[in-house]
Amino acid sequence: MTPIVQGKRLVKRYGEVQALQGIHFSICSGECVGFLGPNGAGKTTLLHMMSGIVQKTSGDLTLLGLDISKQAREIKARIGVLPQENNLDPDFTVENNLRAYARYFGISGKLAQSRVEELLHFIQLYDKRKAKISELSGGMKRRLMLIRSLVNNPEFLILDEPTTGLDPQARHVIWQKLRSLKSSGKTMVLTTHYMEEAAQLCDRLYMIDRGKILAEGKPQELIHRYVGKEVLEIRLRKKEKDRLLERLEGLDFESEEIEDTLYLFPRDSEAVLRRLVEFDVQELQRRPSTLEDLFFKLTGRGLHE
Ligand SMILES: Nc1ncnc2c1ncn2[C@@H]1O[C@H](COP(=O)(O)OP(=O)(O)OP(=O)(O)O)[C@@H](O)[C@H]1O
Ligand SMILES: [Mg+2]
Repeated sequence: MTPIVQGKRLVKRYGEVQALQGIHFSICSGECVGFLGPNGAGKTTLLHMMSGIVQKTSGDLTLLGLDISKQAREIKARIGVLPQENNLDPDFTVENNLRAYARYFGISGKLAQSRVEELLHFIQLYDKRKAKISELSGGMKRRLMLIRSLVNNPEFLILDEPTTGLDPQARHVIWQKLRSLKSSGKTMVLTTHYMEEAAQLCDRLYMIDRGKILAEGKPQELIHRYVGKEVLEIRLRKKEKDRLLERLEGLDFESEEIEDTLYLFPRDSEAVLRRLVEFDVQELQRRPSTLEDLFFKLTGRGLHE
């Protein structure tokens, strides 16, 4: 498949800060691709570049076969952007926020009206169409932001943390809507700090940190490649821990110790569990490995800002 978005050797510098350090990526038609990484990794910077808001320092970036540094206007007309921070116009009602966007894209009259109504029904905000922005809950504002990004019926959708700060219900509503957009053939890129969101929505992921791509692949493939099938989470006393690791010598596993918890990533969980019986383990959890384990494995558990 030919990619509809492609970045090569992309660099962004803000003074001394290297926000993106020469990254390569591609997104094919119909794909939902996620960029996952800690705060400050460079995700928003990358999405801003794709949206034509931020200029790259160097490298190549094409969207829909067009060069962002030469044809940004044409690209902007054909993409939809949900920014990390809401920026609704507080002076307008819900429907007028959408109309203003439609006007910006040159959509007016009956077409604008039917498009706005259709989107309000789609996201279940039709009853709120006359409300002021200040009367909306956080979840409603985010839903409105999402449909605002759809006003021009974009071919490519850029979603920067679509559900951050929302309650589980509101998050699930947005996930359902994004899934339905995906099945209608929309191509999307998203960032998120919710690993569950990435697992639910993304066909493929790029793990990113400090402006560099650390890994790329399908969610399950990445987990199996970097973490393995299962994790044993063990809580026990400090001095028991060293003895336990000694006792496990010879078995094939990796481990990580964080505060009171020992994480084991064994090739054969049964073999490890057999040797654990003699220990006074306070808590033990055996579970399938997740994207969260992958995230920590690749980016570490501490803050590095
Ligand atoms: N306008 C700016 N001027 C200077 N530095 C910036 C600017 N925007 C971003 N940065 C820096 O670039 C780096 C990447 O920031 P970016 O916002 O892209 O991260 P992010 O991955 O989106 O993080 P978060 O998960 O917190 O949203 C950070 O070190 C940030 O401080
Ligand atoms: Mg960001």
